[in-house]
Amino acid sequence: MEKTDKVWIDGNLIDWDDAKVHVMTHALNYGTGVFEGMRVYQTPKGRAIFRLREHTARLLDGCRVMGIEPEFGGRMYNAESIIEAVKTAVRANRKVDYVKPCVFLSGEEVGLNPVGVPASLSITCIHMGAYLGNASSEGAKLITSSWQRPDNLCGPAGAKINGAYVTSCLAKREAVRQGASEAVMLNSVGHVAECTGENIFIVRGGKIFTPHTSECILEGITRNSVIDIARSMGYEVSETQITRTQLVSADEVWMTGTAAEIVPVTSVDGRTIGTGKIGDITDKIHGRFREITAGRDPEYIGWLEYAD
Ligand SMILES: Cc1ncc(COP(=O)(O)O)c(C=O)c1O
Repeated sequence: MEKTDKVWIDGNLIDWDDAKVHVMTHALNYGTGVFEGMRVYQTPKGRAIFRLREHTARLLDGCRVMGIEPEFGGRMYNAESIIEAVKTAVRANRKVDYVKPCVFLSGEEVGLNPVGVPASLSITCIHMGAYLGNASSEGAKLITSSWQRPDNLCGPAGAKINGAYVTSCLAKREAVRQGASEAVMLNSVGHVAECTGENIFIVRGGKIFTPHTSECILEGITRNSVIDIARSMGYEVSETQITRTQLVSADEVWMTGTAAEIVPVTSVDGRTIGTGKIGDITDKIHGRFREITAGRDPEYIGWLEYAD
């Protein structure tokens, strides 16, 4: 990760090195925050944030789930003012390909009661590059994590709550220790749910399958985009239940996420997927996704929100 010059916090742009919190910040101690990750792409019309409106809506949904009022620095925010703030943060920095807005309980408090603890919104821009490194172009090795994807009885599985990401961090550590790029997590009934920061797709017999939103996944914005793109290209896509057997015997597997984008998977738990090379359908959909994010596909130009 490369840092940038300015971080937007509660309406002010401050130097990166000054963007600090106190050790007693509620969110630091108890994970009481909601975050987003957004990609910024270079297009012929300047820098564009991919699906900014959908990311902002999901951030605000997360705030509602957590019971956090979007009042930051004494001002109430809504979708439009958050969108403007994200654009301001991008414009204040030069080399940006990823933006991470974070709503967090910034009051200094001991105790679990979040009621009345003030919140802040930070918007941090970075240069990330390929989140999964060479795996993005060469194909990723996955392991199945021994950690289960938390289900809706353990917390709001469909929201990006800071504290809930501990499970993803444990699973990711397991993957890295075993020389893999990512870990796939199963849900409480043993179905394939998703990876630590990505949704998952499989291809069997020319048809595309991905876990249904009821399978305790985050409803990824890249996932939903890929479903739209694949259907518009004539592929049949089913949102369903996927077993571990179906995953390891798939013809093609790929992951989707804002940070990772679209990453082909070439092995799961040491078993080769398909031919062990990037699959045909994966490649075609990835190609279309690249055209869209580069602003070269008029059909999907509405998914780009220009910052400059
Ligand atoms: C657990 C998890 N699943 C899936 C995704 C992919 O979601 P999106 O495509 O909206 O980035 C993310 C991304 O943040 C994630 O954290």
